[in-house]
Amino acid sequence: MEINQFFNELWHDYVAITPQAAKIHEIFSDNNSQVQNDHVAFRTFNLSPISIESLEPLILALGYQHRDSYNFKEKKLLARSYISPEINQPLIFLSELEVEKLSDGVQRIIKNLCDDIDTARTQKPDVFWSGRLWDMISWDDYSVLLKESEYAAWLSALGFHANHFTVSVTHLDNDDTLEKVIHRVEGAGFSINSAGGKIKGSEKDLLIQASTMADRMTVSFANNEEHEISTCYYEFAKRFAQENGTLFQGFVPNSADKIFESTNVIK
Ligand code: NI
Repeated sequence: MEINQFFNELWHDYVAITPQAAKIHEIFSDNNSQVQNDHVAFRTFNLSPISIESLEPLILALGYQHRDSYNFKEKKLLARSYISPEINQPLIFLSELEVEKLSDGVQRIIKNLCDDIDTARTQKPDVFWSGRLWDMISWDDYSVLLKESEYAAWLSALGFHANHFTVSVTHLDNDDTLEKVIHRVEGAGFSINSAGGKIKGSEKDLLIQASTMADRMTVSFANNEEHEISTCYYEFAKRFAQENGTLFQGFVPNSADKIFESTNVIK
C-alpha cells in the first residue's frame, strides 16, 4: 500500500470516531498555509498475532525504518517509533501492553480476546484501522480492565484505530506556538488534557506537546448494555532543532506518559 493511501484511510477511520479532530484540523487549515501530521500512534497487546513484533513488518513494508524504542514502566508499555525516509511523512509510534505484568484475571480476559483473532486479518496494513478483531467484551470485563489499565480497556472495546493524529505545530506558519494552538483549540470549545500541565515537556527536551481530551461515544457491550466510553484525541507537537541543526525526531517518555491519559475518564 502506498503511504498516502495508508494515512488517508487511517484518517477517515479516525475522524469517524473522533469528530473533534476533523473540526480542529479545519480550524488550523483556515488559519495556516499547511497542516502537517507529526505522528500517529497505535495501541496493541504484546500477544500474537498483534504484538509489535507481529505488526512491525507492515510498517517496514511502507518504507518506514525503526528509529527508537521506549519503556513506560508504570503503564506496563513498550513502544517503538518508526521514521519514513520520505520528507514530510509522519512518524509512527507503536506501543504494546505487557500483558504478563497484569493480574491473572485481566490476563485471562485479554488472552480470550486475542484467541479470537483471525491471523489473516493481521497480515495487511488495513489491520491498523480494522477496529475490534474479537467479539465485543461485556461491560463487567471492561470494568475489570479499566481498574487496572485504561489502555487495556480502550483497546478491548475499540480495537485498532489511530489512537491519535498530531498537528505539527513546527510547520504551522501562523499558530506557531503551543500557547497559540491551545488558545485556538480552547476558544473553539474543545478541552485540553491538563494532566501534568497543559504543555508537556520543555524546550530543552526538544519536543513539547499538548492534546485534547478524547471524544466520547456510546457503544453497545456484549450483553447489549450501552455505555459511553472515550475514543481518540488529537495531539499538537512542536519540535526544536538539535545541535546539528536538524529537528529532533524522538519522543519524550515523561511527556508521553501523561499524554496517554487523554483517554482517561474525566474525573
Ligand atoms: Ni503522540
